[in-house]
Amino acid sequence: MCGIIGFTGELDAKTVLLDGLQTLEYRGYDSAGIAYYTKDGIKTVKSVGKVSCLREKIDQVEKIDQAEKSPSTCGIGHTRWATHGGVTDANAHPHTCGKVTLIHNGIIENYHELENALAAKGKVPCSQTDTELVAMLMDSCYEGNPMETIKKSVAQIEGAFAFCIQFADEPEVIYCIRKQSPLVACHTENGSFVASDMVALITYSREYFVLPELHIAKLTKGRIEVSTLEGKAVSPEMIKITWDMAAAKKGGYPHFMLKEIHEQPDALQSTILPRVKEGNLPDLTADHIPLSIFKDISHVIITACGTAMHAGLVGRIMIEKLIRIPVSVEIASEFRYQDPVINEKTLVITISQSGETADTLAALRLAKEKKATVLSIVNVKESSIARESDYVLYTHAGPEIAVASTKAYTAQLACLFLFSYQFALGRGCITEKECADKIAQLLHMIAAIEETLTLEKVLEEAGSDLAKAEDLFFIGRGMDYALSCEGSIKLKEISYIHSEAYAAGELKHGTLSLIVEGTPVVALATQEKVFAKMISNVREVKARGARVILITNGRPEVDASVFDYQIALPKLEDELVPFTAAIALQMLAYYTALHRGLEIDQPRNLAKSVTVE
Ligand code: G6P
Repeated sequence: MCGIIGFTGELDAKTVLLDGLQTLEYRGYDSAGIAYYTKDGIKTVKSVGKVSCLREKIDQVEKIDQAEKSPSTCGIGHTRWATHGGVTDANAHPHTCGKVTLIHNGIIENYHELENALAAKGKVPCSQTDTELVAMLMDSCYEGNPMETIKKSVAQIEGAFAFCIQFADEPEVIYCIRKQSPLVACHTENGSFVASDMVALITYSREYFVLPELHIAKLTKGRIEVSTLEGKAVSPEMIKITWDMAAAKKGGYPHFMLKEIHEQPDALQSTILPRVKEGNLPDLTADHIPLSIFKDISHVIITACGTAMHAGLVGRIMIEKLIRIPVSVEIASEFRYQDPVINEKTLVITISQSGETADTLAALRLAKEKKATVLSIVNVKESSIARESDYVLYTHAGPEIAVASTKAYTAQLACLFLFSYQFALGRGCITEKECADKIAQLLHMIAAIEETLTLEKVLEEAGSDLAKAEDLFFIGRGMDYALSCEGSIKLKEISYIHSEAYAAGELKHGTLSLIVEGTPVVALATQEKVFAKMISNVREVKARGARVILITNGRPEVDASVFDYQIALPKLEDELVPFTAAIALQMLAYYTALHRGLEIDQPRNLAKSVTVE
């Protein structure tokens, strides 16, 4: 979702901005623009399409206007993901009104009132965006003092925002403020940088800070000053980047998604190993999770969006099985409007790769308001969700760039498993010996992941078959149903093929009517307890002409006439199969999309980090 970059300093600003926007492309966007200061004032260039289109447009502008060739030392850049108003050059950011030029991530909820108030003063926007209204509002508040202007304007704005603002009177200064939407910044000997995501800053610095909410950052060549709205100076804590640049690059793979699929053995090691102590027992002390939190919990609510929510579906099965307390999984965007039953005995687990998903963050805030204990499973350090939770289990999966989540999902599962083991042990539901056995199996699973990756060829073949489909089904029971949901979303996200996840036993209550000759069905039959029932369901679809991709745990005896492809995963304890099955489903989606000739890392209409409701 929308990306932000800003720079003022000794380097060529246009280059920093365009390179930064390119790095942020993975967030998903439909247009891009920059504003940069040259000796002739602040210039703005915007274009629908990719950053490469914007580069071309800037080159053309430079050819026409020689003055553009003069160095630019300060500027702001933006990739827009349309919310208010269509995908047009006019709607792309930056937006200028009078002396104010700005870019914005987020959504202004009271834009209608702002528009009416501005119209009453005879001011009419040129674009259809909520952002331009803010530029107009700021310009109307401006009397020569940027800090006062920002303070006055922000007091009138409702919603989520991250703004970077240039005032024509101080063209080499960038002012920033945010609420909910993320902004990070750093200063180096080359100047001051700000971005929506530190991936855009890593070329310049390995240290950054998160701008605190409703604080103003003033970026000049020589320093960054941060202050409260009342003008009190603050020094935000610096965060060190622990992974290297190579981790954020493709490293020889054609797509980030494939690279990230292959990184799962390493990601899982980083997530699991530091949390296992001698004797194969879980150890969450480095995560500052005290055993005392497990004592009084009467029920658990897991809330998240998309793939992270699907990790929650597996987590629910594990927690209920081991601890025997009720667990519900709630879609975060629904949870907050449903008056959920929460009290001080509720443990709310929020799960998020980015740690910035607006709906998940809002669910977290509601849970805290209702006095629940909030534990979050998050990949991005110091993200909003991480900062606002009582406890955090970081997934340590490294940067995930492809929009479709892969390694973050299996790392989320790993955290949920470790957490369940610790929870069960803390409540006396399992013995140390039982727990140690489970952890030994969990460690063994990492090797099975390596083996699963060698199934790439057969998954590619099955993917080339699926690529011709326009509709398909994923079916499974229990854990396999949770995995079906994940397999289905993965495929939809990147291949644009319609699919549905169905609890296999529910097929006969409707869906079976949609199975006709040639309909592909991906059937997960990895759980011993329901294996025979599952195979009966597979027979039901096969009898109606389905083309079946059967995924099994090991190679149990199955009549070869019931499937067209069999994906035999390395044999594991049933409860650990979600890890290997997820990888098979990720590769299946990847190769299906590849055979359809699609973009994969940046699917249409989707964004990596959805910071609006
Ligand atoms: C977006 C992405 C999904 C992702 C979801 C949750 O919708 O396209 O792939 O699962 O956000 O993201 P989070 O960062 O909270 O895990």
